[in-house]
Amino acid sequence: MKFSALGQNLSGGSGIESLMDDLGKALSGVVLILYKQQDQLLLQVPLQDYLLNILEFGWPVGPENIAVTPGGQTAFYFLFNLFGGCRADGTPGRILFPLMPEYIGYANQALEPGMFAGVQPGISRTSPHRFKYHVDFKNLDPGVDIAAMCVSRPTNPSGNLISDAELRHLADIAAQRDIPLIIDNAYGWPFPGIVFGEAKPLWTGQTVHVMSLSKFGLPGTRTAFVVAPPEVAAAVSSMMAVTGLANGNFGQAIAGPLIASGEIVRLSREIIRPFYLRKRNAALEAIAEFFPADAPYALHESEGALFLWLWLDGAKKTSRELYEILKKRGVLIVPGEEVAQAF
Ligand SMILES: Cc1ncc(COP(=O)(O)O)c(C=O)c1O
Repeated sequence: MKFSALGQNLSGGSGIESLMDDLGKALSGVVLILYKQQDQLLLQVPLQDYLLNILEFGWPVGPENIAVTPGGQTAFYFLFNLFGGCRADGTPGRILFPLMPEYIGYANQALEPGMFAGVQPGISRTSPHRFKYHVDFKNLDPGVDIAAMCVSRPTNPSGNLISDAELRHLADIAAQRDIPLIIDNAYGWPFPGIVFGEAKPLWTGQTVHVMSLSKFGLPGTRTAFVVAPPEVAAAVSSMMAVTGLANGNFGQAIAGPLIASGEIVRLSREIIRPFYLRKRNAALEAIAEFFPADAPYALHESEGALFLWLWLDGAKKTSRELYEILKKRGVLIVPGEEVAQAF
């Protein structure tokens, strides 16, 4: 795996990183006490140790594989610019999204123009009013300019769930090219677990997982974890030190006990997933009830995350116009054309 010139610069070690590291080591014997309520104390220990407990698939990872960032959004900003952009030898490095549409929040994160590339999905009709995207491997042939691939799983905005076989295939391509496969678990494994289909997590020498506390109900704590090969985790930590010194403690302190006990996984399975499944089902029932049966609409199979992705074939209005109309009625949608134009 090769870093961009900027990535090398930001992650190659710095005085401020050494200082933060030394301060961290000096304080490592000291237990930090946070006051949750007047009469209740929360004890904080490094969350990385807890996190290892719930990487339940026996992955060969240790604390050296984990970096903490202030939310997933920042993690992606670091990762995209660590790998993408001009390399030390002057050649360009680009980030490839193997299955578009992808999370609109990735757009504009590239520090250099032209850093993102996307592949159109294969589409299959699964029933009269349903369809599903697939990775179109026939058209996925990353060239030497591709420095990393990235998928959200489940996908924002389509609700697609890249299958285990597709993920394995992507990981094989990443291994052949020696590039990372970045997997955004914002809605998926191991928390908040808003997955309605079957999906196993995958760890290889190329996978970089990002998991966040946001969709577990703690977006304001700005806490995410990058689980990656040690050199990538170290680079992300360095970038964090250069740009923000250190991470906030509150998210880690709140989630620490839940992660240590495994409760975070149980709560995800028993509370969060069923909650969103009920909402999803109610929305599907409403669509079936109010959309005329012969209308040319199709929904992407809802396999996870928080969204329904609607395809209005031959619509007379653009999705932007529909957005304006629905907004006046208090309904918010993300216009699909904006997702397409953003990248
Ligand atoms: C797919 C996806 N990835 C990453 C993020 C970033 O989330 P956060 O920075 O709150 O962890 C979001 C936020 O909505 C998202 O939908």
